[in-house]
Amino acid sequence: MDAPLVLGIETSCDETGIGIVRGRQLLSNTIASSMDEHARYGGVVPEVAARAHLEALQPSIDAALAEAGVTLADLDAVAVTSGPGLAGALMVGVGAAKGLAVALDKPLYAVNHLVGHIAADILDADAGELEYPTVALLVSGGHTSLLLVRDLTSDVELLGETMDDAAGEAFDKVARLLKLPYPGGPEIDRAAADGDPTAIRFPRGLSRASDMAAHRYDFSFSGLKTAVARWVEQHEAAGQPVPVSDVAASFREAVVDVLVTKALDACARFEVPRLLLGGGVIANKRLRDVALERAAAAGVAVRIPPLRLCTDNGAMIAALAAELISSGRRPSTLAFGADSTLPV
Ligand code: KG4
Ligand code: ZN
Repeated sequence: MDAPLVLGIETSCDETGIGIVRGRQLLSNTIASSMDEHARYGGVVPEVAARAHLEALQPSIDAALAEAGVTLADLDAVAVTSGPGLAGALMVGVGAAKGLAVALDKPLYAVNHLVGHIAADILDADAGELEYPTVALLVSGGHTSLLLVRDLTSDVELLGETMDDAAGEAFDKVARLLKLPYPGGPEIDRAAADGDPTAIRFPRGLSRASDMAAHRYDFSFSGLKTAVARWVEQHEAAGQPVPVSDVAASFREAVVDVLVTKALDACARFEVPRLLLGGGVIANKRLRDVALERAAAAGVAVRIPPLRLCTDNGAMIAALAAELISSGRRPSTLAFGADSTLPV
C-alpha cells in the first residue's frame, strides 16, 4: 500500500486542530484556538472550549483539505484524539470523526493524545529518523508527562506525570499572581528576560532525595505556585515593591530545573541517550537552552520538533494513525468514546 492519506482531528483542549498527512509527509495543519475566549477567566473553560470546537470544526476541515489539495473522497482513513483531555472538548472531535468515517465509509483510528505528541517528531522532515528507545518529555498547559518510547506504535510507557498542576498551568497561575495577562507562559518569559534567576530559591517539587524514591518521575508544581504566592504576599504586606522580573526568572528557573533534571535522570537510569521534547511550553527558550546544555554534558541527543508541531495539532494525530496503519493495526470500531483519562 502507498503511504496512507489520513485526516487527523484534535480537540482535547482549546485548539481545534485538523491535519492531513500522506504517511510521514505533512500536507496541512490547520489550528484554530479559542484561547482568546478563555483569557478573561485565566484558564481554559471546558464548556467554552467545546462550543468553540463545534463552530471551528467544519471550516477547519475545509481549510485543511484545500491547503493539502485533496478531497474527503481521497482519504484513506480518519483519525481522532479520544483522550486524554477535557471530556466535553474530546466528545466534539470524536463525534465529528465518527460521522465523517461512517459517511465516507473509511476506517477510523482513535488515538492517544500524548502518543500523538511523540508522533509529531516524524513529521519533522529535517530531523532524520526517530531512533528507539527514546525518553519523551511533554509539557503543556494540560500535561507534564515523562515517557519511555520503545516503539511509537506498540510500546510507550508512562514513567511519570504531574500530580497536580501541569507546568504550563503553573506558568499561567503565577502570571496571574504577578498581574500578567493570560496565557502566562510567554508573559513570564518576557518578564524573566531582565530578571535574576538566582534571586529567590523557590522549591523544586518532588526533587528531594526522599521524594525521588517514591515519585522519581512524577511532577508537582502546586507547591511552587504557593511558594511564589506567599513570597509576593509577604512583600506586599511589608509595603515593598515586588520585583516581577526576578520572581518570574526565579520561578521559571525552578520549573526548568525540575523538568530537565527528571528527564535526564530517566535517560541515565534507562541508559537512553535520546530525549524528545514536546508540548506548548517548549516555546520557552530557557527550557530549550537548559535542556540542550545539560543533555550535551550528559551525552544525550535532544530532538525538538518545530513549535507548530509541538503545540496541540491535528497533523500529529494523523501522523500517528498513518504509522499505525503502516504497522498493520486494525481500525477502531465505533464503540469507543471520549476518555478524559485515557492511559498511553
Ligand atoms: O500545548 P499548548 O499550546 O496547549 C495546551 O496546553 O493544550 O500549551 C499552552 C501552554 C500554556 O499554559 C502557556 O502558558 C504555555 O504553554 N506556554 C509557555 C510559553 N509559551 C506557551 N510556557 C512557558 N514559556 C513560554 N514561552
Ligand atoms: Zn497536548
